[in-house]
Amino acid sequence: MANDPTTKTLAELGVSESAEVSRWFDEVRAQFAAETSVPADEQRWEGLRAAWLGRKSGVLTRITENWLKTSPATLRPAVGKSLNELRAYVEGRLDDYQQIARAAAEQAALARERVDLSLPGAVRPIGSRHLLRQTFAEIERIFLSLGFTVVEGPEIETPYYNFEALNIPEYHPARDTMDTFYLETPPGAPQRLLRTHTSPMQIHIMEKQAPPVRIIVPGKVYRRDNPDATHSYVFHQVEGLAVDTDITFCEFKGTVEHFVHEFLGPAAKTRLRPSYFPFTEPSVEVDASCFACGGSGCRLCKFSGWIELFGAGMVDPAVYGFVNYDATRLSGYAFGLGVDRLSQLKYGIDDVQLFFQNDVRFLRQFP
Ligand code: FA5
Repeated sequence: MANDPTTKTLAELGVSESAEVSRWFDEVRAQFAAETSVPADEQRWEGLRAAWLGRKSGVLTRITENWLKTSPATLRPAVGKSLNELRAYVEGRLDDYQQIARAAAEQAALARERVDLSLPGAVRPIGSRHLLRQTFAEIERIFLSLGFTVVEGPEIETPYYNFEALNIPEYHPARDTMDTFYLETPPGAPQRLLRTHTSPMQIHIMEKQAPPVRIIVPGKVYRRDNPDATHSYVFHQVEGLAVDTDITFCEFKGTVEHFVHEFLGPAAKTRLRPSYFPFTEPSVEVDASCFACGGSGCRLCKFSGWIELFGAGMVDPAVYGFVNYDATRLSGYAFGLGVDRLSQLKYGIDDVQLFFQNDVRFLRQFP
């Protein structure tokens, strides 16, 4: 308040009658009304309360000190009455002001926090199945449709299951191709190793189950290979085994061809090449016509027109001897698919290491 009259006594203001007292109170009241006509907020309300009702230096305290206490007895009743009226007015109006300030604050908060239900939802980034998992699922789908069942087995094995029972005796040269991770075992305890292929599950299943058997075994395998574009320490295989009383090489060939058509497309041709595995006889390497060039020859197939897919063969009768199956009555076939290589071939991935690096730029290409 400029030239604030409440800082002066009534005598200094030249007041001698009660009508003049009312006039000064009206002026103060008008000032208060002006100050509270500004839109209300809680900070402003705090300020006004301190300025008008503050005990030490509020306007009403000053009026009490400067006007009431110093007024002559003749004016005191009029000053006292007007002061009471002014106090009631100020307190009442400040209460209203506070209500309005609170309501305004609530409105502002509501406006800030308002949920717009018409906005599109937040798109959360979700992962997708890894390409190797997708390849496993595709292989499983094909063999499930042929009546195979899926079983899984241990990654830690004994040399017996990984080698001996698969007709790979201790000094057999085939062991050289499988540089093996052996686990540390206490002296005298049976030796343990990380399986180098899924073939040990052939033995586990035939030990447990009487024929007929028609299973596939997806899983991880381990080898001490040097990592490069087509080799890693840990990779993935799907083993297949079918044993019954009347399984012929023809059925084996038909199954392999069906798989290749389903996996690589109906245009893919299949070729069986003689090979060697100690646990199959005869053994073959299954090739598919190169899907990049259609068989005419390109860099992918090293200009041969064919791509090597996996090893397979008819179960060697010697293996039946390890599981007490009657080799004179039974026959069957087995195959071991390298999932990483099949996935590389199908999706044109030139480096197997990409499967293990979890680079989202790679993963996002296979949603
Ligand atoms: C075997 O492992 C046999 N157990 C397969 C088999 C099963 C034959 C049943 C007959 C009957 P091989 O060592 O060739 O075979 O490996 C199979 C496949 O695993 C290979 O064709 C290749 O695709 C894949 N592979 C081998 N080593 C690696 C490696 N270090 N990294 C990635 N893939 C590999």
